[in-house]
Amino acid sequence: MPESQISTPGIPENSIIPRHIAIIMDGNGRWAKNRLMQRISGHKQGVETVRDIIKLCIERGVEYLTLFAFSSENWRRPADEVSFLMQLFFGALKQEIAKLHENDICFKVIGDISKFDPKIIEFIHSGERLTANNSRLVFTIAANYGGRWDILQAITKMLAQTTRLPDNLQEEDLAQHLAMSYAPEPDLFIRTGGECRISNFCLWQLAYTELYFTDTLWPDFDAYELDHAIKCYQQRERRFGRISEQLQLPMSANKATKIANKNKT
Ligand code: IPE
Ligand code: IPE
Ligand code: MG
Repeated sequence: MPESQISTPGIPENSIIPRHIAIIMDGNGRWAKNRLMQRISGHKQGVETVRDIIKLCIERGVEYLTLFAFSSENWRRPADEVSFLMQLFFGALKQEIAKLHENDICFKVIGDISKFDPKIIEFIHSGERLTANNSRLVFTIAANYGGRWDILQAITKMLAQTTRLPDNLQEEDLAQHLAMSYAPEPDLFIRTGGECRISNFCLWQLAYTELYFTDTLWPDFDAYELDHAIKCYQQRERRFGRISEQLQLPMSANKATKIANKNKT
């Protein structure tokens, strides 16, 4: 079957350092509880980890970093925790945007931010505008984000653009409307805090991502932990449907085999 008919689009270039790392930052509450502190202290400490991980990702050569900060399901938490998380998010934005810009970092937010306070929405938009042309790292925060929401909003946008759907609808027709269409699909997914689930994170984009789960709680996630996750990633064989032997051949040899087979028939 020609590559063009294979559902999952092209095989990405395999690099030693994952180009795109997506993280579910989990375990703030338990980190605080273990220290007999309130959950909000864990969230505060979690922001410190975010700062460190951004720096480390740049040093390691990661090009895209995406962090899940607030899910579409997190509204179910006690009202005071939700309101604290909003304040913390806004406070961190106010404090960090200029620094992100100084460090040539492009800042993006994905998620249904229409539910946020108008002040926060304006701040997000101005931060995105300010940093739009920066190129050292694309740093995305997923806020009020849900993978199902993302697919639905992409379908809505796609339908709004057309009066008649093509007969042969392609994945790209939809994917171009996903909230993170500016980024390659994540190479490495990390979830801290011990749970082995996706919790409605980038459902579409994680189709072929390498998944890594660690018991380490997010406030304790550090350089050692990040490097360990990257090391595990480097030991994975990313086959994208092929068999091991095909990976040993350089791409040109694969092509040569195909041509030889074609000439036989
Ligand atoms: C993740 O930490 C942060 C958010 C979801 C905002 P949690 O708050 O879920 O921490 P645990 O899982 O209760 O320890
Ligand atoms: C997932 O963490 C969402 C974020 C980290 C923002 P949760 O702690 O809310 O996940 P579940 O609900 O336990 O799966
Ligand atoms: Mg949690």
